[in-house]
Parts: sequence; C-alpha cells; structure tokens
Amino acid sequence: MKIFIDTANVEYIREVNSWGILDGVTTNPTLCAMEGREFCSVIEEIAEIVNGPISAEVISLDREEMIKEAREYARIAGNVIIKIPITSEGLAATKVVSSEGIKVNMTLVFSVNQALLAAQAGAFYVSIFLGRLDDIGHDGIPILSDVISAYENYGISTEVIAASIRHPIHVTEAALVGADIATIPYKVIQAMVKHPLTDSGISRFLEDWDKLKEIVQK
Ligand code: G3P
Repeated sequence: MKIFIDTANVEYIREVNSWGILDGVTTNPTLCAMEGREFCSVIEEIAEIVNGPISAEVISLDREEMIKEAREYARIAGNVIIKIPITSEGLAATKVVSSEGIKVNMTLVFSVNQALLAAQAGAFYVSIFLGRLDDIGHDGIPILSDVISAYENYGISTEVIAASIRHPIHVTEAALVGADIATIPYKVIQAMVKHPLTDSGISRFLEDWDKLKEIVQK
C-alpha cells in the first residue's frame, strides 16, 4: 500500500519525505486554509519537495469552472492531481479533464455506487472517506472493501485511496482490505512509527551496552 500524507503543511511534508516512506500528498480546502497561504504557491512548494502525486482540490461547483481550475492547477507541475468532488457536475468535469490527460482524484466518496460512477467518468483515484463515515455511525472499512471488490469484478484500474484517516487502526484495516493508497495525517504517521516495546527495547539495549562498557573498562 502506498503512503500519502494528508496535509498542506510543507514542514510536515519535508519531514516525512526525509524518512524515505512518502509516495504522495493530498490536500483539501480545509487543510490549505489552516496554512493561511496563497494556494498555488503552497502546491508549487510541495511539488519542489515531492516527486509523487500531489492532489489539489477545486472549489467551484459548476463544471466549466471546475475544468478551468483543473487546467490551471495542472499547469503548476506535472505531478499535480486534481481533486474533484463526486457530484453530477464533478463527474462531467472529470470526463473532460481526464480525456485531456489530467489525472483526477474523485473525492468525498462514501458509497460503492459513487465509486463506480467516479471510475466510469475516468477518475484515476477515488478517495473513500473512512473517518467521516465513522462519525455518522457507519463503519467505513466494509465500504472501502466493497469498492475494492466491485472494482476487481470489472478490472477497473482506478486506484482506491483510504482517506479521512483518523488513527493507526484505520491504516492497518485499509491495508488488510487491499486499499492501493492510504492518505494519512502527520500525527497518525508519527503514531505508526511508535511502539512501546520498541522504546523499551532501545532503552534496554543502551543500558546493557553501558554495563558492558563498565565491565570492559575495569
Ligand atoms: O483525505 C480526506 C481528508 O482530508 C478528510 O479528513 O479528517 O477532515 O475527515 P477529515
């Protein structure tokens, strides 16, 4: 499973990229607003750090405006992917821009039917929002798993992104049902690295090493 970071914070992106584990980046208007910076310059800066796909989301609701935004963002760098929400206007815009070779990440997808339509319109990625389904009392993982199975039934090549990830268990479960990608907030990526037995194991090794040094010095 590929690992994307879900943030518009360039410092987080730089840090995680330096660990050698980062395949791509997703942003959304909320994440960009949190940075309080001009949108295109943030995407440009991210593109200087990361070679993999970087999703930038349109904010228009009308297909012609979405297409205009998509073309503008796609010009920022060759690896910019356009995030378009699943609406009838979004599907129409996806059909047009994907036929021009612009890759689309269809977002705010919560059902198998929406995911089927996204693929049909030519979306390169589909983002299934796990946390927001959990928020309203639906388990997101079976829906993610059903999307993967439905795509497999028809040999659909649209890549499935597990999105709206809130904790490390979401990542594990997404991997177990075969998501192509998980896009993960910085805090959750940090939590994935950690294990109390790793920390206590390191402390124990260092203590024993110090003991050895004492013995050898005597
Ligand atoms: O990738 C989608 C993500 O940005 C939304 O996450 O936590 O706002 O539901 P969240």
